[in-house]
Amino acid sequence: MSRTRTVLITGAAKGIGQAVAQAFNAPGQHLILLDLDLAGLRDWVADHPWQAGVETHGCDVADLGALQALFKQLSARLGEVDVLVNSAGICTENEPEDLDNWHRVIAVNLHGTFHVTSLCLPLMADGGRIINMASILGRAGKVRNTAYCASKHGIIGMTKALALDLAPRRITVNAILPAWIDTPMLRSELATQAQIAGISERDILRNAKKKLPLRRFIEADEVAGMVLYLASPQAGGVTAQSLLIDGGAGLGM
Ligand SMILES: NC(=O)c1ccc[n+]([C@@H]2O[C@H](COP(=O)([O-])OP(=O)(O)OC[C@H]3O[C@@H](n4cnc5c(N)ncnc54)[C@H](O)[C@@H]3O)[C@@H](O)[C@H]2O)c1
Repeated sequence: MSRTRTVLITGAAKGIGQAVAQAFNAPGQHLILLDLDLAGLRDWVADHPWQAGVETHGCDVADLGALQALFKQLSARLGEVDVLVNSAGICTENEPEDLDNWHRVIAVNLHGTFHVTSLCLPLMADGGRIINMASILGRAGKVRNTAYCASKHGIIGMTKALALDLAPRRITVNAILPAWIDTPMLRSELATQAQIAGISERDILRNAKKKLPLRRFIEADEVAGMVLYLASPQAGGVTAQSLLIDGGAGLGM
């Protein structure tokens, strides 16, 4: 009989992390879901039928002390972690002079991803999988986004280096580079842009979709499908990669 597969997902209360949790909702899985918004995470979990075992934890991935306490508790109780999905992230814009938002975005997106990964490693099974949500902005720049772009470029570099560190244990480390995924993050970003441009949210949505080659946003469960593939036995030879899912937007328009 095969043993239960343990999957730890950060940022699971909303968006991509939530879709990933849903994708792993099957018998034989145990899900450890982590989010800053514990109340939101618990409400969502309570509203859904679960075939997998599920536990929820409230934690700020930027807070190393809180994470250390959580992992101490997890390691006393858990066996091995088979899959780690780092999806927690924020996309706060920053002007070049804005140090406060620089530090917060780097702390959550880059340090947070590394904190969780580093603390999870002693629990990780040989042959395990680490999947990091970077962004198309891990390959490109964007105005008022020095912090976000730096954090996502950093995640891609970290992914490549860590893949080499962990290859002797057959642990694969890959990054997914999403863009235009229909989540609360994208909706709130577009709402802000609509306000700045003085146009309605409906118009900004229509204009954005018109510019995309597929003429639509990508659904979060399509990203979750890529995560399932990277966690599958068929992807055991895929490591140190950055896989784009952007509906063709990165090709240019
Ligand atoms: N939606 C997109 O189009 C898109 C594009 C590129 C990259 N991404 C990346 O994908 C990941 C998920 O994005 P999303 O669109 O699902 O975002 P979202 O805002 O819809 O969900 C993010 C989740 O992370 C949680 N979170 C935020 N800060 C946290 C912290 N400090 N500690 C713990 N949890 C925290 C939030 O509470 C939320 O539940 C992010 O890393 C984001 O940068 C998304």
